[in-house]
Amino acid sequence: MPLIETHELCKTYRLGEIEVPALRNISLRIEPGEFTALWGPSGSGKSTLLNLLGLIDTPSAGNIILNGRDTANMTDAARARLRNEGIGFIFQGFNLIPVLSALENVMLPLSIRGVSRTRAHCEADRRLAEVGLGKYTHHRPDQLSGGQRQRVAIARALVTNPLLIIADEPTANLDAATGLAVIEQMKALNHTLGVTFLFSTHDPRLLGHLQRIVRLSDGEILEDSMDALPNLSTTLPPSPTHTEGAAA
Ligand SMILES: Nc1ncnc2c1ncn2[C@@H]1O[C@H](COP(=O)(O)OP(=O)(O)OP(=O)(O)O)[C@@H](O)[C@H]1O
Ligand SMILES: [Mg+2]
Repeated sequence: MPLIETHELCKTYRLGEIEVPALRNISLRIEPGEFTALWGPSGSGKSTLLNLLGLIDTPSAGNIILNGRDTANMTDAARARLRNEGIGFIFQGFNLIPVLSALENVMLPLSIRGVSRTRAHCEADRRLAEVGLGKYTHHRPDQLSGGQRQRVAIARALVTNPLLIIADEPTANLDAATGLAVIEQMKALNHTLGVTFLFSTHDPRLLGHLQRIVRLSDGEILEDSMDALPNLSTTLPPSPTHTEGAAA
């Protein structure tokens, strides 16, 4: 069962009399465990699509099926529950609370859910160690580098064990090397924990490091690397040993 399935998703913003079509007929399937990047120039609809898939905003037309549940007819409360339980968010600006330590920032989503302080402490410690910040748990955000802050944000997104992590331009405020390290960290967590990542970027320096790339242009899917032929078939001559089913 796909984790995310959309059919003919549309979003039109209204600015007074003017209608701004931000997304047009987006039909997309994302399987559990994918590491997918939305790629496109400014204004192409990346944030709009992430906000719809993260149940932060609602579509103008079309529907979103998340983990087998059609979100169109859900009450606001049911949508909020699905969002809180199933999705972790990472933002471009990190969105950490400046007066709290890294550890307390990561504990927060658990504390809000009523998890005991001892358990929240233990889980947050584990997640910070997982992103390589075991030695920085007592640092406040202003005592951390940009890349370290984004790792805290990744640990915070992971701490509730979500099915899906949504990140809108997670590397936009980072220099090239740090941005790449953050993407590699996300990839490693995707690999070890199996958590699905869906994020947006328009950073060409990341291109060789992405898996599936969904290109948006003017609110439409221009190209999806999943639809492309595997590289092997274009670089290797056809070989009977590689033809599945031929021997059967
Ligand atoms: N709240 C809003 N009200 C009206 N129009 C909006 C609103 N948010 C986005 N838009 C418009 O929708 C289109 C898509 O915007 P969106 O923010 O999704 O693009 P983006 O790909 O995330 O761009 P960027 O790379 O700059 O973040 C743009 O034309 C934008 O001007
Ligand atoms: Mg955006």
